[in-house]
Amino acid sequence: MSKILVFGGTGYLGQYVVKASILAGHQTYVYVRPTKSGDIRKLQLLEKFQAMGVTIFQGELDEHQKLVKVLRQVDTVIVTLGVPQYMEQLKIIEAMKEAGNIKRFVPSEFGNEVDRGSPLPPFEAIAEKKRKIRRAAENSGIPYTFVSSNSMGAYFVNFFLHPYDEKNNKVTVYGTGEAKFAFSFEKDVAEYTVEVATDPRTKNGLVICRLPKNVISQLDLISRWEKKTRRTMEKIYISEEEVIKLSQSPSEQDAVAYGILHSIFVKGEQTNFELKENDLDVVKLYPEYKYTTVDEVLDIFMVDPPKPFIASFA
Ligand SMILES: NC(=O)c1ccc[n+]([C@@H]2O[C@H](COP(=O)([O-])OP(=O)(O)OC[C@H]3O[C@@H](n4cnc5c(N)ncnc54)[C@H](OP(=O)(O)O)[C@@H]3O)[C@@H](O)[C@H]2O)c1
Repeated sequence: MSKILVFGGTGYLGQYVVKASILAGHQTYVYVRPTKSGDIRKLQLLEKFQAMGVTIFQGELDEHQKLVKVLRQVDTVIVTLGVPQYMEQLKIIEAMKEAGNIKRFVPSEFGNEVDRGSPLPPFEAIAEKKRKIRRAAENSGIPYTFVSSNSMGAYFVNFFLHPYDEKNNKVTVYGTGEAKFAFSFEKDVAEYTVEVATDPRTKNGLVICRLPKNVISQLDLISRWEKKTRRTMEKIYISEEEVIKLSQSPSEQDAVAYGILHSIFVKGEQTNFELKENDLDVVKLYPEYKYTTVDEVLDIFMVDPPKPFIASFA
């Protein structure tokens, strides 16, 4: 069993990773920023972590010596920090180099395969940050694994189908809605990530989650939801030209969002390339793992009355 340290463990994906690590029997640690006394949600979450046996280290990412000391107590590092903190991972890499004992580093990615594809500028800027972290990991001498998990299932069901807003019968379709994307449920991404982080076969490799039953189009997703809910949704199409225009919005958040939507749902950049010989296909690595299908994820949302989808520790 490994000693797994998670950075970003209190976040959306991080909570799943922490739980997956504990369930897999690893000694599990999180490095979190000092908690403000009024932050009840985070304090409660940390209490739950502790009750499950997670060791908590509090500190900032620029406390180099503290980081080195913490890293010397573990052997595996998984980072699930959000996009604004991507470049902060250089600080973690520097500390891992000094600590000298880390057997595997999994940086925060969990999206498209960034060394392929040519997204629009706002999304390209994020991809470029991920590439910089990849190159820093490769040059660090620390064994690494990159995880391209493609589209988080529950995240995009919420986004497209707004299942908690039954009065809203409209669904926006980007482009023709026919491009295929790769759908992966958050819990599965977390469990695969913990597996690959401790698997000798994935050392210095790129793992891609393109789960065969979960390669679907936006129109497929809508039609499955319509069947389950016995509702017909009104489709509002936004043409590719319009999506490109929206990606030039002065709001950075909107520009990035439309850049992402264009890459995944208009151009199909999660599925429009063949896996190369060196790519590690998560399904081939773990053929016995029963991943959650799109229909099973939609079933999670078919509760009456609908409840917001929440991270696994909440
Ligand atoms: N492909 C997809 O569909 C999809 C969907 C969602 C996310 N993702 C990816 O998954 C990864 C994790 O994203 P997420 O949404 O789970 O992250 P998140 O919830 O936004 O944040 C994770 C953690 O970052 C820490 N953090 C926030 N601000 C910070 C700061 N200023 N300095 C240091 N730490 C800070 C927080 O931890 P503390 O406060 O405890 O320190 C937080 O819990 C990202 O790479 C993201 O792109 C992919």
